[in-house]
Amino acid sequence: MGGGRESGLTDVVKQQVAAHWNRRAPSFDEDFGHSIRTPAERAAWDRILDLVLAGRGALHALDVGCGTGFLAFELATRGHHVTGVDFAPAMIAEARRKAAARSVAIRFEEADAEQLPFAPGSFDLVISRHLLWTLPHPEAAIDEWIRVLRTGGRLVVVDGHLDGGLAPPASENARTSPEYAAVGDQLPFLGGRSREDIEKRATSCGAKPGRPYENDPDHHPDRPPRDDPTREGEL
Ligand SMILES: C[S@@+](CC[C@H](N)C(=O)[O-])C[C@H]1O[C@@H](n2cnc3c(N)ncnc32)[C@H](O)[C@@H]1O
Repeated sequence: MGGGRESGLTDVVKQQVAAHWNRRAPSFDEDFGHSIRTPAERAAWDRILDLVLAGRGALHALDVGCGTGFLAFELATRGHHVTGVDFAPAMIAEARRKAAARSVAIRFEEADAEQLPFAPGSFDLVISRHLLWTLPHPEAAIDEWIRVLRTGGRLVVVDGHLDGGLAPPASENARTSPEYAAVGDQLPFLGGRSREDIEKRATSCGAKPGRPYENDPDHHPDRPPRDDPTREGEL
C-alpha cells in the first residue's frame, strides 16, 4: 500500500489521510490549539514568527499542508506574499472562505506536499506546522521543500513533542481515528521525530541549521505557561 511516491490522488495512504482532514475541515479551527484564543498564545506565536521572519522584508512564503491557513494568515497579516497548499479539498475551501471573508489576499491551492507544483527557487520561506508526522515519505518531502526554496531561503518546521498527559479529546485526535488506524503503519514519523533528526535530513540536502525555538518551559528561559497549546504536538 502506498510504497511509491505517488501523487495525493493515486496513493491509497494519502487518500485515507486526506479523507480524515476533509472530514474535520468544517470544525478544524474550533479544535484545541488550532486558533489563538488567549494573550499568552498570541505572545508565543508573535515570538515564534519574529524569530522565523527575523526582520526580513516582504517574503514569498509557502505554507505547506496549510489546512485552514493558520500560518498563511499569520504571515499575510505581516505583509508577506503567501501561498498555501493542502491536498484536502475541504481544507482549501475553508481557507479560501476565510480569506474572502477577511479580504486577505492569499493564494490557496490543492497540492501534494511531497510533489509541489512549483519551480525550483520559487520561495523565500517554506513553512509547515504539524505536517511531517502524517506524510508517507517525510524525508523526501523535506528535499522537495528545499527544492522550491531560493538560495538563502529559509525552511521552518513547526512541530511539537507529544505529551501523553496533554492528548486531545478522541474526536480531535487524528492518530486514534479510524482513517489513521488503517494507514498508521505507513507513516514513518507517526510516533514523532527529534528536531535533530529533521535537521540532519535538511542539512544533508545542503541546508544550514538555524536557531531552534523550543516553546517549552524545560528548554526556554522565558518559561511560557505549561498550558500554552503551541508547546506540544496536538493535531
Ligand atoms: C494537522 S493538520 C495541520 C494544518 C495546518 N498546518 C495547521 O497547522 O493548522 C495537517 C494538514 O496537512 C494536510 N496534509 C497531509 N498530508 C498532506 C500532503 N501529502 N500534501 C498536502 N497536504 C497534506 C492535511 O490535509 C491537513 O490539512
